[in-house]
Amino acid sequence: MKFDTPAGPNPIDRGRVVGIPHDRIDGAAKVTGTAPYAYERHDVAPNAAYGWIVGSAIAKGQIRSMDLRTAEAAPGVLGIVTHANAGALGKGQFNTAHLLGGPAIQHYEQALALVIADTLENARDAAKLVRIDYAPEQGRFDLKAERLHGTMPPASFGSPADTRVGDFDGAFARAAVKIDQSYSTPDHSHAMMEPHATTAAWNGDKLTLWTANQMIAWSVGEMAKTLGIPKENIRLVAPYIGGGFGAKLFLRADALLAALGAKQIGRPVKVAIARPQIPNNTTHRPATIQRIRLGAGKDGVIDAIAHEVWSGDLPGGGPETAAQQTRLLYRGANRITAHRLAVLDLPEGNAMRAPGEAVGMLALEVAMDELAEACGLDPVELRIRNDVQFDPEAGPQRPFSSRKLVECLRAGAQQFGWTKRNPKPGQVRDGRWLVGMGMAAAFRNNITTDSGARIGIDGQGRVTVETDMTDIGTGTYTIMAQTAAEVLGVEVDAVTVRLGDSRFPASAGSGGQWGANSSTAGVYAAAMAMRAKLADKAGYPIDDARFEDGLVKMGNQSQPLGALAGRDGLWVEDRIEFGDLAKRYAQATFGAHFCEVGVDIDTAEVRIRRMGGAFAAGRILNPKSARNQVIGAMTMGAGAALMEALDVDTRFGFFVNHDMAEYLVPVHADIPEQDVLFIEELDDKSSPMKAKGVGELGICGAGAAVANAVYNATGIRLRDYPLTIDKLL
Ligand code: MOS
Repeated sequence: MKFDTPAGPNPIDRGRVVGIPHDRIDGAAKVTGTAPYAYERHDVAPNAAYGWIVGSAIAKGQIRSMDLRTAEAAPGVLGIVTHANAGALGKGQFNTAHLLGGPAIQHYEQALALVIADTLENARDAAKLVRIDYAPEQGRFDLKAERLHGTMPPASFGSPADTRVGDFDGAFARAAVKIDQSYSTPDHSHAMMEPHATTAAWNGDKLTLWTANQMIAWSVGEMAKTLGIPKENIRLVAPYIGGGFGAKLFLRADALLAALGAKQIGRPVKVAIARPQIPNNTTHRPATIQRIRLGAGKDGVIDAIAHEVWSGDLPGGGPETAAQQTRLLYRGANRITAHRLAVLDLPEGNAMRAPGEAVGMLALEVAMDELAEACGLDPVELRIRNDVQFDPEAGPQRPFSSRKLVECLRAGAQQFGWTKRNPKPGQVRDGRWLVGMGMAAAFRNNITTDSGARIGIDGQGRVTVETDMTDIGTGTYTIMAQTAAEVLGVEVDAVTVRLGDSRFPASAGSGGQWGANSSTAGVYAAAMAMRAKLADKAGYPIDDARFEDGLVKMGNQSQPLGALAGRDGLWVEDRIEFGDLAKRYAQATFGAHFCEVGVDIDTAEVRIRRMGGAFAAGRILNPKSARNQVIGAMTMGAGAALMEALDVDTRFGFFVNHDMAEYLVPVHADIPEQDVLFIEELDDKSSPMKAKGVGELGICGAGAAVANAVYNATGIRLRDYPLTIDKLL
């Protein structure tokens, strides 16, 4: 099904099932331990051996020699994979560094060997006996130093590195009110619950990987390139995944090494990347330095806006696109955005939890708070005055497909009780706490990606949906069942959803908050094809057929779906193919974040007292799981504001705090109350579902609302995240 003109009325509009809060259909399996993750697939590979990864102890250099003899002789050891015995390996396009290093070493903890043994303990013990002699080389590990003294050329990722409209310098010079500030955000670690893990088995030249992965079709292709075997020989299976956060968009060392290990010992092998290895072995969100200049009239209306971003990555890597939202969020005739990239020899940077906007909004929305104060304007009012209903770089000929930022600002402020805020910082006391309120806009792009599905109906009228789409904890199973049930006129519990297997039609996958809208649109396409087939079988013209109560009806006649499907059942497959609506219309999701904090007058401890937000993201397919998503996202925003940071050892080039004891993320006790309000919106240009992404929107801006609340509480403006006690004292 092509989607290249705005959606008209369609079966999803019935709102019988889609748009209604629904419990997760996989919920019981999840909480009773019967939804196994990749490492737990004892059912498919009961004789699997265990691999343990040996990571590099230097950040850059060469392996002079490896001595495996003691490790090979250790109890239970079955084999050791290294670059020297793995055969020629290619590299996928999504990995910057090789997943198996050697003799060249590209980053600290890069996998250099996999030790395989009969038990996990034996593998881990033997891994310590691998002796590696290194020839270290000097690396570059310090973004701040590179920005001051290094070369940082323009760098792009999926969109231009730089954009420029009008005459920024002239307009900024003339502006009545100016803000010119720099902000910084540290390296971040995904910290998803389930580590990267794979169980691999070969059957002749056919490889099966039960693995934790967000993007099945991409990763089949990447594995084929890496191993140099045909895609058809590789099967990836990932029905349940314990969080992605961008960490599992691409292949990681666990998948490659499990495959190589299983080949070497002729027996299935399972590999998990141990928690303390994850931050340095895998990817992370790169640190940024951001300079923002805003030039406005006394009325707060922006005439000049510039956002420049500096980040770093390994050679061949990409930037953190933190100026992305600044291209679309606010008005202003004179504009600059720019991304600059240093070469750093730290572990590779990549997508994490709303790459770009998540940290871009931490800077832009604090700058907006500073502008509001400089203009003597309420921060909500400032944002309303700078709303723009078209792409401000392209002009009015490129309107937004839908944009309800102002509605979110108003409704969110109302719900939160924003008028109770004292605009003067440092005025409100509650016992030993200084209390403040802050707000920020929310913005995240809406991306659509082609997505396929097949649907079957059996003789009993039971519906099955199959697609390689993943559920990374987001609720995919449920919204797919809702979509099929809505279109086919059956109950949700008459639908079985099977996900995450490369034998199923390729889907959009889970990433960049495109998953829900795109993949349900794929199910919609297949379900509409099924309607046509059923109507044809029934002998009813499709325009006269109604799909209700498990029946196809026309006038007062009806036939059950099961009878039409017959003993053999009926199957159809289709895909949604997105045309150029995303080019003709700017597509994004919007919201408004509000936060109240208390700051201890003596210790400067910051406690969030409550958070609230209003969000407009098209049709909300399942308000219950969407609310889950937004609450989790706001929590991530709070983490970025107050605690999340990988600390770089700039001498040796690694992240020092590489486990969950020292890489801090918020827990329930850190965020006592969160309110989420969805603004009604249908976006007929985003997909036939009239939905947009919602998974990452809640991250973008949440941390800035926290930072602005800390300022309102204390009068201390921090621009270097996270806002830890040492910076407030
Ligand atoms: Mo997301 S960081 O694209 O999984």
